Amino acid sequence: MAVPHSIAARAKQLRADIEQHNYHYYVLDRPLIPDAEYDRLFRELQELEQKHPQFVTPDSPTQRVGAAAQTGFAPVAHATAMLSLNNAFEDEAVVAFDRRVREALESERVEYAAEPKFDGLAVSLAYEQGVLTTGATRGDGYTGEDVTANLRTIRAIPLRLRGPHPPAWLEVRGEVLMLKADFERLNRTQSAQGERQFANPRNAAAGSLRQLDPRITAARPLAFFAYGTGGTDYGKLRRHSQVLDWLTELGFPVTAEREVVTGIAGLLNYYRAIGERREQLPFDIDGVVYKINDLAAQNTLGFVSRAPRFAIAHKFPAEEAATAVEGIDVQVGRTGALTPVARLRPVFVGGVTVTNATLHNEDEVQRKDIRVGDTVVVRRAGDVIPEVVRVIEARRPPHTRRFVLPARCPECGSAVHRLADEAIARCTAGLFCPAQRKQALLHFASRRAMDIEGLGEKLVEQLVDKGIVGTPADLYKLDMAGLAALERMAEKSAGNLLAAIEKSKQTTLARFIFALGIRNVGESTARDLARCFGSIGRLAAADAETLQQVPDVGPVVAHSMAGFFAEPHNREVIRQLLAAGVSFAETAPRRLDAASPVYGKTFVLTGTLPHLKRDAAQQRIRDRGGKVSSSVSKQTDYVVAGAEPGSKYDKALELGITILDEAEFLKLFER
Ligand code: IVH
Repeated sequence: MAVPHSIAARAKQLRADIEQHNYHYYVLDRPLIPDAEYDRLFRELQELEQKHPQFVTPDSPTQRVGAAAQTGFAPVAHATAMLSLNNAFEDEAVVAFDRRVREALESERVEYAAEPKFDGLAVSLAYEQGVLTTGATRGDGYTGEDVTANLRTIRAIPLRLRGPHPPAWLEVRGEVLMLKADFERLNRTQSAQGERQFANPRNAAAGSLRQLDPRITAARPLAFFAYGTGGTDYGKLRRHSQVLDWLTELGFPVTAEREVVTGIAGLLNYYRAIGERREQLPFDIDGVVYKINDLAAQNTLGFVSRAPRFAIAHKFPAEEAATAVEGIDVQVGRTGALTPVARLRPVFVGGVTVTNATLHNEDEVQRKDIRVGDTVVVRRAGDVIPEVVRVIEARRPPHTRRFVLPARCPECGSAVHRLADEAIARCTAGLFCPAQRKQALLHFASRRAMDIEGLGEKLVEQLVDKGIVGTPADLYKLDMAGLAALERMAEKSAGNLLAAIEKSKQTTLARFIFALGIRNVGESTARDLARCFGSIGRLAAADAETLQQVPDVGPVVAHSMAGFFAEPHNREVIRQLLAAGVSFAETAPRRLDAASPVYGKTFVLTGTLPHLKRDAAQQRIRDRGGKVSSSVSKQTDYVVAGAEPGSKYDKALELGITILDEAEFLKLFER
């Protein structure tokens, strides 16, 4: 860059540089410099122009927001009408379009320019001697509104055409839109400032462009893509695709998603490919547009009424539709989670008929304030589960009520619990609730719980569906006659199953606690609980505070335990299990000493200890409220090493974990 010898030259240089960077940023999508550097150039130009107003030019990048607020928009007659496009919703309509085109052109295969159909607002931009003079909305196609002052604020729109020989006159047509990411960001700031939210990027773009004060438009992140011209003499250009290339050279952003394709297969492949990427595109589209690529052939086909015969829009199924909420059901999942589900008046959206939509959880319903009777906007994009986007409040009938989640499980009438910092509310009757039956039985019978061999998924499925088994206690009432009713159940396997059930009666308190399937109570917590309480009666009677004296039991576990044992349905099942003969040794309660150096610490054992057997050492640790782990990690407090230790020893050295020999280990138990 030459050193400027005068202020005027420096201003000119800055303008040229800024325009060049705009071009790289918006048109080529390849910025040359970081944003901060761009801002610096921009500020330098601003300061220079402020000090020397005589050097300001109307096309200076600083002059995008020039005009003051207006009282209205003047009408603009379009030199050539801004027409609409005929729509095709099905492949057949596209096939018919291609057939008509081929017949009219007497051609076997036709070349088409395929482009996304932007879901924004059509605008026309007039350039005289290379300078933007008028920008207008589409209006009714013949007369639009003069929004020049607002369009000038959109940085993707050049105020002056690039290149040394701009055409004397040019009208560019394209779409103003808001990128999805910018829309999300705008809505976040709007809501942070207590301003209204926009429904979608299209509405946000429309609302921003129709501001009477261009300063407001300037503050909105609007984008622009050119897709054609209005009644231009193309000179040497023969194809629409060349027109788009030329527009790029003149400084207009043209989407990179465009493609030249041939024949009906080319059209439909393009449609599929864009359809699959629709969600990932940075902007919303509502279909694709096919245009005969050859400009002379476009002329041959011409127009019919208000739409060209040489082009067609192939639409995607609408992703959003409005419908009524006829009810809000609450479903109970396999783990007891309560999920509100909107029952909707059937509506065709995203290519399918939607009759219900998950509302996720209570907070979500409250946040969107969805009520029975409301008209809501439903969205189904791609293969995504249908979703209620928002309520159309203007259509809310009188006397609706806010949604509240029931306090009792809709499946079994048991109490519903929700942790303070959890979004999900759950039915507490894990052992009893029909919705949770299969899950509860499978867990109860699993190997590390009651270990009932042969009671797998298929069998549980049948036993529950036929109404033979409801709760785990019913397993102990099964007999040959009952099992004979099942499919593919030979006498021999029925006998084996009954034997396995019988055998499971002899168990341990730890296994029994684990088998109850209390939320957040895993195998090792069950073992700790068994050791500390020694009996199921004492465990069931413990309050949350007492429970939390057990190592690793925090408020979350204590809360779900308390909820589980508070539910009479669960207690009844436990009573039945014990009455059926399930038994385990009970021990005296053990009060853990939280001051013990072992309490809450994690140990790893390696090698052979001189006196203590591995089992005995583990037992000692657990009895004092310590934990035993099989591998060394940063969470390990002590590694107890005997003769011929393994790689755990090396790992302990590496991580700097305290290594104890047997004597040092035993010392920990002396107090
Ligand atoms: S060409 C003579 N190309 O669709 C046809 N239009 O129904 C001129 N649109 O409001 C239109 N993306 O704003 C064309 N790639 C695209 C388009 C596109 C969106 C809009 C256009 C107009 C409507 C026509």
